[in-house]
Formats: sequence, C-alpha cells, structure tokens
Amino acid sequence: MNSQLLIENTAAYVRQTLQNAEGGHDWWHILRVWNNAKLIAQTEPANMLIVELAALLHDIADAKFHGGDEEIGPRTAISFLQSQSVDADVIEHVTQIIRHMSFKASFEGKKFSSPELDVVQDADRLDAIGAIGVARAFNYGGFKGREMHNPEVSANLNMTKEEYKSTTAPTINHFYEKLLLLKDKMNTATAQKLAEQRHAFMETFLDQFYAEWEGRA
Ligand code: ADP
Ligand code: NI
Repeated sequence: MNSQLLIENTAAYVRQTLQNAEGGHDWWHILRVWNNAKLIAQTEPANMLIVELAALLHDIADAKFHGGDEEIGPRTAISFLQSQSVDADVIEHVTQIIRHMSFKASFEGKKFSSPELDVVQDADRLDAIGAIGVARAFNYGGFKGREMHNPEVSANLNMTKEEYKSTTAPTINHFYEKLLLLKDKMNTATAQKLAEQRHAFMETFLDQFYAEWEGRA
C-alpha cells in the first residue's frame, strides 16, 4: 500500500475510534499534533511516514481509561497497523514511540530514542502550551471539578508532594507543575522556537489572570 493511502486510512481509523473521547485527547488534539509534527519534520531530519503514523496513533488508547494498562495503546496500534499490512520494522518503531511519548516516561529516563520520537513528542508538548494549552488545562480542571485558582493553596507551593496530592490542586497550579516547564524540555530546535512564543503567551495570560483576580486590571 502506498504511504499516502496508509496515512489516510490511519487518520480515518483514529477519527472514528476517538469519536467519544474526552476533550483533551479527542480527534482535534490528534489533528493538531499531526500538523505540528509535520511542521517540525520539515526542518528536522526524520522519516515522515513514521512521524505521521506515530502522531496519529499516539493517543489511540489511554492507559488512564483502561485500568492503568500501559500496553493498551501500543497493542491497539499494532493490530491496526497489521490490518494494513505495514512492515514489521515500521510497526515496531511506531509502537516504541507510543510507549515512550508520555511526560511520565520522559522523567523515567529514556530507554528508547529516535529522531522520530523527538519530533512527535515535541508536537504533543506544543499542544499542551500556548492558548490551546490554557484552554485544555481549564477544560481538564472543569471536568475534574477543580477550582480555577485558590491563593491559599498557591501560597503553599513548597508543600511536600504528599500534602500537595491530598489537596485537589487548583488548575492554575498545573502551569507551575508542568506547562511552564515544557519549553525547556523540547527535543528539537524547531519546536524550541515554536515553544518560545507559546510560552510567552502563557506568561502574559498568567499576569493578566492575577491582575484581574486581584482587581488590578
Ligand atoms: P498527555 O496525555 O497529553 O501527556 P495528560 O493526559 O496529562 O497529557 O493531559 C491532557 C491535557 O490535560 C493536557 O493539556 C494537560 O496539560 C491537561 N492536564 C493534565 N493534568 C492536568 C491538571 N492536573 N490540571 C489541569 N490540566 C491538566
Ligand atoms: Ni497527546
């Protein structure tokens, strides 16, 4: 099968499978990551077929919604790719990328690395920052019934991890815990550049948010 047709079939399969997915990991997230990945791969040496397949399949099944089964995503991707008669080495590479994509995996020390993983991971991280990042964070917080902000909790950010976890942290804390750290975790120079502008936007957002919160603006 030619690559173009394979990509089209994969996009159709992912869109169909994620029909009822929650807002943070729906088809539109996949489409944004796919576009980001293609943009980054224009200026980074990487195999475009692997990049596109991994971008499309990276959130095909989230362990969070499957009793913590970390292999559910890779397994789902393998059976789809086998159904399309994709070469075994391509399937292997794409599944390795899916396994190593997450923020958590990136802290656990990399056991696998490839230029294509770097590109797709950056593309996913870009979708967690900037205006989309702000929107996704508050969408997630609303879904979890969290407060947007609580100055009494934020004043206490030096509490231990256990203390912190036992409070239902307001959404604004997620910026300090993760979103503002992502800019310096980009693998590629291209994504680093794209991240600068999105990061600056989040800082502007936070300044304005606190100014309005405190009645200064
Ligand atoms: P991913 O699977 O993309 O690595 P997550 O599943 O952790 O990331 O998060 C999906 C989206 O929800 C992201 O935009 C992320 O920033 C946001 N999110 C995750 N945890 C929180 C949180 N505690 N508060 C606010 N937003 C969150
Ligand atoms: Ni994702």
